[in-house]
Amino acid sequence: MKSSGNKVRIAVFISGTGTNLKNLINFSKKNNLFKIKLVISNKRNATGLIFAKKNRINTKVYYLKAKLKDERKILNNLKKNKIKIICLAGFMKILSKNFIKKFNGKIINIHPSLLPKYKGLNTHSRVLDNNEKYSGCTVHFVNSKLDSGKIILQKKVKILQNDTSLTLQKRILKQEHKIYPKALRIILS
Ligand code: GAR
Repeated sequence: MKSSGNKVRIAVFISGTGTNLKNLINFSKKNNLFKIKLVISNKRNATGLIFAKKNRINTKVYYLKAKLKDERKILNNLKKNKIKIICLAGFMKILSKNFIKKFNGKIINIHPSLLPKYKGLNTHSRVLDNNEKYSGCTVHFVNSKLDSGKIILQKKVKILQNDTSLTLQKRILKQEHKIYPKALRIILS
């Protein structure tokens, strides 16, 4: 996918803390693969926006309350910035089928479970409630069904006896930071 000499132009969509965003920005600085040109958030106070701005990356907030209208605006912005790949990184809104079709095969997501198990929200507490031995994280392509697109990379994480949702979430997040850049390397090289 990488055209000679040109870094692939990426947009990252966030809703919150943005540690995956931060990690991807740092990774992008150390390699020739891609450049994050745009960060989109549905929350004005998403702390990830601060880090993006510090790195002089364009940021824009779309609340997506008027979903289709905002999605049209996002698509225009993506076009203006010549974005080739969208990385969802803790983006907690579901994109419409129409939007996904427009970027077919070019949207990837990170999810904090071993998909296809534990799609959706509150993964860690559900995993613990079910006394699973392992959980983990998954980078996958986004299709029109929630957390169901083709898997690019996964990492298993062992559940410890005293794990709480928070301790498990922290351990899995560390692994997320390893596999998201790797997954991008896989699809871009
Ligand atoms: C990450 O754990 C990510 O896997 C999860 O949100 C967190 C965002 O953290 N995403 C989802 O649950 C998507 N359904 P971050 O803002 O620090 O990158």
